[in-house]
Amino acid sequence: MSAAIVYQRELDLSADDYIACVGRTTLGSTRPLGNPARVAAMLENSDLVVTARDAASGGLLGLARCLTDWHWVCYCMDLVVVEGQQGKGIGKAILDKCTEIMGPRVGIALLAMPEAEPFYQRIGMEQYAGFWRERLDKA
Ligand SMILES: CC(C)(COP(=O)(O)OP(=O)(O)OC[C@H]1O[C@@H](n2cnc3c(N)ncnc32)[C@H](O)[C@@H]1OP(=O)(O)O)[C@@H](O)C(=O)NCCC(=O)NCCS
Repeated sequence: MSAAIVYQRELDLSADDYIACVGRTTLGSTRPLGNPARVAAMLENSDLVVTARDAASGGLLGLARCLTDWHWVCYCMDLVVVEGQQGKGIGKAILDKCTEIMGPRVGIALLAMPEAEPFYQRIGMEQYAGFWRERLDKA
């Protein structure tokens, strides 16, 4: 039997929790995990953070961090499930929870890492061309 998992919105996820969770994924090298103050500011200015936690231990298994207007579109800036817990339906369930919270009027857009493209295709998201202007300060 698989362990119970709690999916919920968190208003004050700590930078330490974010860094520990994202650091256990391939996304870790693409986020400023060595700069906790910048991570704290990223979290503080996010509109929607949804986590998956082990119900028994409270351990963080995954998260989504999003910007949204709550009425039309949501940009998912991070979606991760920690290594060892991937492929169990947690990533899809986190996105489903985001949709449940925002309601049927809000679509979700994101820029996918190449290795995650099959996941988004598998869960039925439509594929469009994405564009990106690179930031100058990555630390
Ligand atoms: C991408 C990620 C968030 C997906 O979360 P996950 O919990 O592993 O995925 P799920 O178990 O919810 O997968 C849902 C379905 O997609 C499939 N799937 C997941 N990853 C897949 C992959 N790389 N290739 C093909 N299918 C995949 C699953 O098998 C499952 O299919 P099913 O419905 O037939 O069972 C997670 O693997 C991850 O954190 N990866 C590293 C970081 C990353 O790349 N994040 C995305 C940034 S854009």
